[in-house]
Amino acid sequence: MAKMETKTSLLDNMIGVGDMVLLEPLNEDTFINNLKKRFDHSEIYTYIGSVVISLNPYRSLPIYSPEKVEEYRNRNFYELSPHIFALSDEAYRSLRDQDKDQCILITGESGAGKTEASKLVMSYVAAVCGKGAEVNQVKEQLLQSNPVLEAFGNAKTVRNDNSSRFGKYMDIEFDFKGDPLGGVISNYLLEKSRVVKQPRGERNFHIFYQILSGGSEDLLCRLKLERDFSRYNYLGLDSARVNGVDDAANFRTVRNAMQIVGFMDHETQSVFEVVAAVLKLGNIEFKPESRVNGLDESKIKDKNELKEICELTGIDQSVLERAFSFRTVEAKQEKVSTTLNVAQAYYARDALAKNLYSRLFSWLVTRINESIKAQTKVRKKVMGVLDIYGFEIFEENSFEQFIINYCNEKLQQIFIELTLKEEQEEYIREGIEWTHIEYFNNAIICDLIENNQTGILAMLDEECLRPGTVTDDTFLEKLNQICATHQHFESRMSKCSRFLNDTSLPHCCFRIQHYAGKVMYQVEGFVDKNNDLLYRDLSQAMWKANHSLIKDLFPEGNPAKINLKRPPTAGSQFKASVATLMKNLQTKNPNYIRCIKPNDKKAAHIFNDALVCHQVRYLGLLENVRVRRAGYAFRQPYEPCLERYKMLCKQTWPHWRGPARDGVKVLFNDLEIPEEEYSFGRSKIFIRNPRTLFKLEDLRKQRLEDLATLIQKIYRGWKCRTHFLLMKKSQIVIASWYRRYAQQKKYQKIKSSAIVVQSYIRGWKARKLLRELKHQKRCNKAVTTIAAYWHGTQVRREYRKFFRANAGKKISEFILQKIIQKYFLEMKTKMPSLSPVDKNWPARPYLFLDSTHNELKRIFHLWRCKKYRDQFTDQQKLVYEEKLEASELFKDKKALYPASVGQPFQGAYLEISKNPKYKKLKDAVDEKIIIAEVVNKINRANGKATSRIFLLTNSNVLLADQKSGNIKSEVPLGDVTKVSMSSQNDGFFAVHLKEGSGAAGKGDFLFSSDHLIEMATKLYRTTLSQTKQKLNIEISDEFLVQFRQDKVCVKFIQGNQRNGNVPTCKRKNNRLLEVAVP
Ligand SMILES: Nc1ncnc2c1ncn2[C@@H]1O[C@H](COP(=O)(O)OP(=O)(O)O)[C@@H](O)[C@H]1O
Ligand SMILES: [Mg+2]
Repeated sequence: MAKMETKTSLLDNMIGVGDMVLLEPLNEDTFINNLKKRFDHSEIYTYIGSVVISLNPYRSLPIYSPEKVEEYRNRNFYELSPHIFALSDEAYRSLRDQDKDQCILITGESGAGKTEASKLVMSYVAAVCGKGAEVNQVKEQLLQSNPVLEAFGNAKTVRNDNSSRFGKYMDIEFDFKGDPLGGVISNYLLEKSRVVKQPRGERNFHIFYQILSGGSEDLLCRLKLERDFSRYNYLGLDSARVNGVDDAANFRTVRNAMQIVGFMDHETQSVFEVVAAVLKLGNIEFKPESRVNGLDESKIKDKNELKEICELTGIDQSVLERAFSFRTVEAKQEKVSTTLNVAQAYYARDALAKNLYSRLFSWLVTRINESIKAQTKVRKKVMGVLDIYGFEIFEENSFEQFIINYCNEKLQQIFIELTLKEEQEEYIREGIEWTHIEYFNNAIICDLIENNQTGILAMLDEECLRPGTVTDDTFLEKLNQICATHQHFESRMSKCSRFLNDTSLPHCCFRIQHYAGKVMYQVEGFVDKNNDLLYRDLSQAMWKANHSLIKDLFPEGNPAKINLKRPPTAGSQFKASVATLMKNLQTKNPNYIRCIKPNDKKAAHIFNDALVCHQVRYLGLLENVRVRRAGYAFRQPYEPCLERYKMLCKQTWPHWRGPARDGVKVLFNDLEIPEEEYSFGRSKIFIRNPRTLFKLEDLRKQRLEDLATLIQKIYRGWKCRTHFLLMKKSQIVIASWYRRYAQQKKYQKIKSSAIVVQSYIRGWKARKLLRELKHQKRCNKAVTTIAAYWHGTQVRREYRKFFRANAGKKISEFILQKIIQKYFLEMKTKMPSLSPVDKNWPARPYLFLDSTHNELKRIFHLWRCKKYRDQFTDQQKLVYEEKLEASELFKDKKALYPASVGQPFQGAYLEISKNPKYKKLKDAVDEKIIIAEVVNKINRANGKATSRIFLLTNSNVLLADQKSGNIKSEVPLGDVTKVSMSSQNDGFFAVHLKEGSGAAGKGDFLFSSDHLIEMATKLYRTTLSQTKQKLNIEISDEFLVQFRQDKVCVKFIQGNQRNGNVPTCKRKNNRLLEVAVP
């Protein structure tokens, strides 16, 4: 689908009806409602036959895009929804293809969208006509003439922010191919009064504001202008800025457009200079000055502005100043100069400003025409676009409105004439009977204005030319007389007394009933404006300007060409140009765009029923429809008609072979449409009643639905079948692939299973074979063994008789001997060392040698001990004897003993002979000292220890003071009865004395010594050798001692130690002394 929605008829998706001709029932309400409905759906265009009604949307719609242009290009008028492009296309194509000159007439009130419409038409034509560099340049120039003319000729009014204040008719010229060649613009009556004064809420022409806003500093300086609008009296200030209009940007657009259109730089500059001069003229002010001769005279207040204007325009300042003060009237070679009073001076100033500006505007149009006119002389086809100011009704209407409305009146006239004519012609062309229709013809109003004898314009001219005093009132009087009886003329003072009491009509006014409504005109200014006088002094001053453009604008100022004849009045000029225009239009094929303003607020989305109704009424649109429907509401060429409805009949569907006319006949017969409902023209079918058409449309719609269902049905069937076939084909392919795959899988599985089975079988076979081979091998081995045994038995049986019966015993003895021999020999080498403490002994080789081995060990030990002892000297022998004695006495009895084994017995620890301290003690003892040692003597009363020297001699035990060496006690060995000690690890021992002996006075001694074992041993041995009696040594943890008279029990308690490992001794009571040992 190339296009989203391909339309084939205006009737498709219609909102309301696209063509008012189809409206049923037709009356004002339905007409307005239809417009409203369409307007609400953004359908601003509606047809009445080939006339386009356009409602101003006051917002930009997306319906003018290049895509839309393409859509409407080369399509028939009724094929798509109503659009200005359709009309443009129709006009362009009939110009190109049928060689008919066209005109596009755009009418409507001010602000209804005429200018926009004219631009749309031009842009459409530009888009669809030929292409190429040259053609494009022509198009561009034609299009760019618009912004220039709009800047100078448009202004903001209360109706329209961009209201055209001049009429414009533009002929676009084409060659035979339809390529544009150029154009000619005609302008009609610029509203020049706006230059000097604007109604409230309106502005002067755009260009003034544009220059001030958008001109560069440099430009403004050159033009001697200031940016501030309020500096200029001629600028309407209350709405100097318009919402949504960017004057500065527009100025750039205008300059650009001027460049494209072909203005040279110096021309542009001159144009702006004139504009500046006009603006500055407004600032010249006058003050009254009385003269001696009693005449009033005026004087320029501030000459600065005048000076600047003169500098800008190259006018001699004194000349201009004089022109503002005097007026020269020339009559028959006589020159009379009169002074101007202040009012006249202001009038002169404003007249000059208006004339300068309006002449500049006309010059611009001429200049543009020069640029855009066709360069060739070949025959041209022409498309005229008329955009003229719309019908205007203001609060105060003056000469300009009168002229404008007259022009609109004429246009309505031509519309009526041409539509009716065309309609009539069509009926004749098609050979159909023509019925007359009543409608309002405004010819009578035109006549009221333009009649050469009794027309208002003619009377105005008469007044202006009449000698004597002429005022606006005399003009009104004249009107009152002459037009009094005219149906459309109303005046309070007219001869006809109809309006005598109409208070809504002031005395200074007259009212005309235009086709578009009643308009009341103020007569004030009519005469002046019609005269359009510019004092000759001023035009001469302008002509003298050293400024080529201004000079050109005032040719009448040239004194050489002085013309005493009055120039034609503004009214008659306009009338003449309108007449020319009408004549021009009549030669062309008209296309109508009737613009309607939906509201007065310039607002989007608002549809004011009353306002629209008014416009519909005076535009005569309803009559238009009626005329169009006179007899036959709808007509269509046979081909498209047949094409559209052929599906309604079997004979014509799907194809009709033969002339389309016959096809339509067959079709209508088949549908049983009553014969009076339609008529056959030469190329078109005419349908009398829209109802018939709608019935056809309904049937068509119904049929289309049926056809759609049919097509859908077949299409769906086809689609399903194709789909099914495709599925089937795919299924076969998939199935074959799947089968292949499945078979492959199955084969793989079988193959691997076969291998497994095979391997098992092979394994089993191999094992079986192995078993058989092993069996065979064992059999062989058994046979060999049996054979060997058997042979052995055989041999032994044979040789038994040769052996002795006790051979076994001998052999075993021999072996035993051999073993013992070997044992001893080996023992020799394995002997341990000779050290008696060496515990090593070789392991026993045979069990039966156990006792021998131990015995041998003992003997060896004894032997090596003997060997060891044999080495000793006598001294050593004695020491070992003592040690042996100690061992016998204490081994396994006293815990202290093992520690003493390694300590050599020294005996004399204290060397008394060498220490001089003990000289006395040495001298006192003359026997050999066996022990000299310091011991602790335990105090019998409290158990505290005191050091004493303990000496043992051959016969005595001596105790001496350790410090002095004085002998404290002396006990003969014979008095010592017993030595007691504990079984523990302490050095306490008690020496018991014989009762009654000399030493026993204080009782038994209790000592503690580090060498207890040695001392006890030596005491024992000495006693034995001295007294031949064995000293009793008691080892017990509890023994009794005799302290003086008391028998005290010494008790050894293990543990419970307070000061470390030192044994402590404590007398508990007179019966008990406790020794705490570790
Ligand atoms: N087709 C349109 N689309 C959008 N806006 C429009 C259209 N026609 C008119 N207008 C708006 O209405 C304003 C007045 O239109 P214009 O053509 O100047 O009126 P006229 O020339 O009839 O006085 C324009 O400035 C524009 O804003
Ligand atoms: Mg306009």
